[in-house]
Amino acid sequence: MPESKPAVLVARAVFPQTLQRLQQHFEVQANPDDTVYDGATLQALLQGQAGMLATGSERIAAALLAACPQLRVVANLAVGFNNIDVPACTAAGVLCTNTPDVLTETTADFGFALMMATARRMAESERFLRQGGWTKWAYDMFTGSDIHGSTLGILGMGRIGQAIARRGALGFGMRVIYHNRSRLPPDQEQPLQATWVSKEALLQQADHLVLVLPYSAQSHHAIGAAELALMQPSATLTNIARGGIVDDAALAQALRERRIAAAGLDVFEGEPKLHPALLELPNVVLTPHIASASVATRRAMAELAADNLIAALGGTRPPTPINPQAWASLA
Ligand code: DGY
Repeated sequence: MPESKPAVLVARAVFPQTLQRLQQHFEVQANPDDTVYDGATLQALLQGQAGMLATGSERIAAALLAACPQLRVVANLAVGFNNIDVPACTAAGVLCTNTPDVLTETTADFGFALMMATARRMAESERFLRQGGWTKWAYDMFTGSDIHGSTLGILGMGRIGQAIARRGALGFGMRVIYHNRSRLPPDQEQPLQATWVSKEALLQQADHLVLVLPYSAQSHHAIGAAELALMQPSATLTNIARGGIVDDAALAQALRERRIAAAGLDVFEGEPKLHPALLELPNVVLTPHIASASVATRRAMAELAADNLIAALGGTRPPTPINPQAWASLA
């Protein structure tokens, strides 16, 4: 009798090649319509599944784990994992994995591009042109702020923060300052030409502030009215980290009152819904959570998520576990 394959749920649509690969190892319940499952549907679909390929859209919390006792592995197709209650997974013996490293450079490229588009008013000027507003050259038409030679402030100095720092210091001659709970060792700081400063100094000194820290209870509204008030009126803010790190209502008010010059946002509180005020403001560039979305990188993320699921359910330690402690209960 051939051994039966473990059952897995692939919670969202993925590349056909990824699905085919998973089907070689598992009985796959796929989601070709790419429905975003609500909690009750997810719970029903997870019955009897040993694994799950998840995305940031699925919330994995204690109640779900208790209702799905056969679940052993959650492979998140994202580097961020704020959709997963990791301590609850560890307590339930569920191993979780994510997709670090493969998206670092692509995400840094996008963060830099969004910062530049924001500083140089690209979206606003394109809207103006498309709407037929361009009838003559003017000396002050869409004047923005320079990137080269300015001060780049980075909040969160993990892999993506460091990749952005490298672009700023080495590519654009920026002065790079950063704030992170732990300071980088000198041998990491030096090649990036980056200087650790307090959060207050970061907010006060940055011409262009980029947020790249993970979302957690501690980083919720790390940028609110008080923090925005410390920034320069000419400064820009770029968020490619997670919605909820910025208080979007406070940001909309600061942008409306020109207490900062502009913002570039790829992530939002409660996305895909947006704070309605953001849609009305000219001085904000809005993109739909696409910082890691190059074809090559999304393929690499999907492959790594599949590698993790195949390894963990096949009895091999997966390449990128979030809670390796859970591996002991699984192995
Ligand atoms: C990530 O990998 O965390 C990206 O934000 C996609 O969700």
